[in-house]
Parts: sequence; structure tokens; C-alpha cells
Amino acid sequence: MRRIVLLFGPPGIGKGTVGASLSEKWHIPLISTGDLLREQVKCNTSLGEHARAFMERGELVPDELVVEVLHERVSQKDAKDGFILDGFPRTLKQAEMLEGVFLAGDERIILNLEGSPAVLIERLSQRRICSVCGAVYHMTNIPPKQDDICDFCGGALVRRPDDEPAVIEKRLRVFAEETKPILDFYRGTNAVYTINADGTLPETLQEIDRIVKWS
Ligand code: AP5
Ligand code: MG
Repeated sequence: MRRIVLLFGPPGIGKGTVGASLSEKWHIPLISTGDLLREQVKCNTSLGEHARAFMERGELVPDELVVEVLHERVSQKDAKDGFILDGFPRTLKQAEMLEGVFLAGDERIILNLEGSPAVLIERLSQRRICSVCGAVYHMTNIPPKQDDICDFCGGALVRRPDDEPAVIEKRLRVFAEETKPILDFYRGTNAVYTINADGTLPETLQEIDRIVKWS
């Protein structure tokens, strides 16, 4: 039986941050389509070149490209007992495609992280990521030990190109209009857990612990 978790929520709510902790705790890999696409952009692959413009504008990358990178990743050995998906699905078509990946007996839950717009904007404005290993920081809430240097690999910390104010606004709008409605697709499965993720990271993790019941 595989344990499959979908981390659902708007930009900046903490999908990557919460996902990293859950991955350690539940011993299944965290798979972020945003991270997979950024890796393609960094390596200048043709898929990355195609995706870059959409990402810089804060728009969704076409489904086929996202599914291509994801398919390759979930087929790897470390995902055989399950995985946590961060940022996928984001369209109804992606949700339908994902149904084809599930096997009978897979145990799956959807964690719907919610928070207020002011918190999201503050978190994204203060976010820095490591240009080498991708580790995520928040300059006041979850700061690095040394300014602008990654605790794990010593890499330089940078802003994500899509964390500029105008792009943040666009991403929040795209989430509300194109992604949020797909929650309805899952509501019938009785596996949607809504979590208030406005609080600190320990508070959010505690809330998840409290309400998620694995069978
Ligand atoms: P993606 O990388 O998925 O970005 P996103 O959904 O906009 O979400 P973020 O990564 O910005 O936020 P997060 O929720 O992970 O928050 P984080 O943990 O970093 O996608 C980027 C782009 O790729 C998309 O715009 C699109 O173009 C494309 N894409 C990706 N997937 C796609 C798909 N399926 N289909 C089509 N296109 C796709 O936390 C944010 C900040 O807050 C950090 O600084 C963190 O340290 C801090 N923080 C986190 N939790 C807390 C807390 N509890 N308290 C205080 N601070 C906190
Ligand atoms: Mg993320």
C-alpha cells in the first residue's frame, strides 16, 4: 500500500516548508512540480526554456509539460512506498491525469492549507531560497544562521524571480481562479483535511498531527 499526500494551497502558504517536515516524518519523498520545473529551467533544457516564460509571468505551465516532469519523478525507486505532491494537481485536467497514477489500495489524503492573503504576501516577500540546493528560508520567521548563506550547503540565498510583487499578485489570482475550484473534485472522496496554516510552522504541524488519521 502506498501513502500518497496531496499538499494543496495558495502560493506562500508553506507547502514546501510543511512538506519537507512531513517527508522526514512519514519517510516518503516530497515532490514539488515547482521545484522540478525550476530544475529544468536551471539546466536550460528545452522543457525548461518553454516553462520559464510561464513561470516568470506567474501563469500555469501547460499541463503536458508538468505531467512529463512529474511522471519521470514518481517512477523513481524512492517513491515506491508513496510520496507527497506539492503543487500538483493545479488544474482539473491534471487531477484527472493523476487518477491514472493511483493504484487500488493506495491510501491518499489531501491536505488543504489555508491562510489569509496578508500572511501569504508577507511570507513570499520575505522568502529567500538557496541558489544551490533550493532550501527555503524566511528572513524573520525561519532565518538562516548567517545572512544570505545557506545553513546546509553554504550556497548564496536569492529571491525567487516570481516573488516580485506584481507576479505574487498574479499567482494568487491564478490560484483563486484556476486551482482552488478543483478542491470540489476531491471533496467527494472524504479525504480532504483543511488546515489553518497562518500560524507558526510547529503549530501547523501539530494541527496536521491532530487531524490526519491514517488508517
Ligand atoms: P510553486 O513552486 O509550486 O509555487 P507556489 O504554488 O506559488 O507556492 P510557493 O512555492 O511560492 O509557496 P509554498 O506554499 O511552497 O510556500 P513555502 O513553503 O515556500 O510553482 C511555481 C510556478 O511553477 C507556478 O507559478 C507555475 O508557473 C509552475 N507550476 C508549478 N506546478 C505547476 C502545475 N502543477 N501546473 C502548472 N504550472 C505549475 O513558504 C513560503 C515562505 O513562508 C518561506 O519563506 C517560508 O520559510 C515561510 N513559511 C512557511 N511556513 C511558515 C510558517 N508556518 N510560519 C512562518 N513562515 C513560514
Ligand atoms: Mg513551494
